[in-house]
Amino acid sequence: MTKTTRFLATEDDTLALGRALAPLLAPGMVIHLCGDLGAGKTTLARGILRGLGYEGRVKSPTFTLLEPYKFSKLYLYHFDFYRFLDPRELEETGFREYFNAESVCLVEWPEKAPDLPTADLQIDMRAEAQGRTTAITAHTEVGRRCLDKLTY
Ligand SMILES: Nc1ncnc2c1ncn2[C@@H]1O[C@H](COP(=O)(O)OP(=O)(O)OP(=O)(O)O)[C@@H](O)[C@H]1O
Ligand SMILES: [Mg+2]
Repeated sequence: MTKTTRFLATEDDTLALGRALAPLLAPGMVIHLCGDLGAGKTTLARGILRGLGYEGRVKSPTFTLLEPYKFSKLYLYHFDFYRFLDPRELEETGFREYFNAESVCLVEWPEKAPDLPTADLQIDMRAEAQGRTTAITAHTEVGRRCLDKLTY
């Protein structure tokens, strides 16, 4: 499957989608989280982290750029590139090294960063009068296999 959409009526539904995605993630995957301010990107990331077994507070990386997490089977790096307007500043942080075969990278505002690796999955979220419309697009074979197994 290459593309699928969901309507998420409440925050709990966003968390549930994240929890359903968590067991499908494998080291090396890149997931782009797209959508306006407040669309629900960090909430979805929180659901993924809960699904991986992380029970602590999930901080938005808006100011730190990156929140790193370590699990037994993978590293997870949660990026938020919203505040990065200068690509040179971004390069100086060495952020590319985080995109490697051992890690899963979740990226909010990928459109603000130059030349990111291809996303296996791109998740577009849009606020509706109530709830969120969410489209998940696979851009790689790994991403397509992931969508085939998604149970939410
Ligand atoms: N399906 C949903 N229905 C209604 N509200 C939701 C839903 N999912 C998330 N929210 C709410 O949307 C608000 C913003 O969510 P969140 O911080 O995840 O957005 P964001 O896309 O990460 O924003 P930013 O671009 O500022 O980082 C939160 O209050 C969250 O509870
Ligand atoms: Mg956010």
